Amino acid sequence: MRRRRLLILISCVTVVGFGALLAYSGERKKMSSQAREQFIKDFQRSPLNTTIGDAMMLRILVEGTGAKRGIEVGSANGFGAINMGIAFERTGGHLYTLEISPKMVKDCRANLQKVALDKTVTCIEGDALKTLPKLEGEFDFVFIDAVKRDYLKYFKLIEPKLKPGAVIVGDNVIRSARAMKDFLDYLQKSPNYDTVIIRASMEKNDGLSISYKIK
Ligand SMILES: C[S@@+](CC[C@H](N)C(=O)[O-])C[C@H]1O[C@@H](n2cnc3c(N)ncnc32)[C@H](O)[C@@H]1O
Repeated sequence: MRRRRLLILISCVTVVGFGALLAYSGERKKMSSQAREQFIKDFQRSPLNTTIGDAMMLRILVEGTGAKRGIEVGSANGFGAINMGIAFERTGGHLYTLEISPKMVKDCRANLQKVALDKTVTCIEGDALKTLPKLEGEFDFVFIDAVKRDYLKYFKLIEPKLKPGAVIVGDNVIRSARAMKDFLDYLQKSPNYDTVIIRASMEKNDGLSISYKIK
């Protein structure tokens, strides 16, 4: 009799506990999404960070293509990574963001944690020219935003891992066009890619290159 009562008690506690956990996780998700948008609004952007318009363009590209595995070259403190991270969370994907400066890596990780995106976005410390070859698997989204004259070097390290249908975005392609001429020529002349240069924002009077790896 005592054993039966104990079993009933354990079952009740389990059901109540599970219900509370479900309610908590639902509430947390809802609150997080509002808090995230506020966090982005209040973000103290530096001149290094991508513009709000470009960040939204990146988010839409990830969501629109349903990208599942992304790479960002040059995280800074994570403004672009947070925006893309929101989209990768929605697609059930993952973003790897690569950063050479230990201080930036620390800030990027802290910011990702503040918006609960640290499970969706991994910040990898080190020179992308050395960390890119270590990334395993295939990728379907790339955002290049580090040293302008090295864009083609980063891209050449990523290219063998690109899935057909992948999207490749380069930042600052108007104002730094000369420094990255080899990168832009490569993508614009290759029969394997469709490429366009767009201005999603007038904030820096600059633009993005968007390339599609033809299937
Ligand atoms: C323009 S910022 C990136 C801004 C960021 N993408 C955003 O959306 O806010 C460029 C970053 O690239 C980093 N960087 C420069 N050379 C690098 C390299 N070889 N590997 C990885 N990161 C690098 C810099 O430290 C800097 O934080």
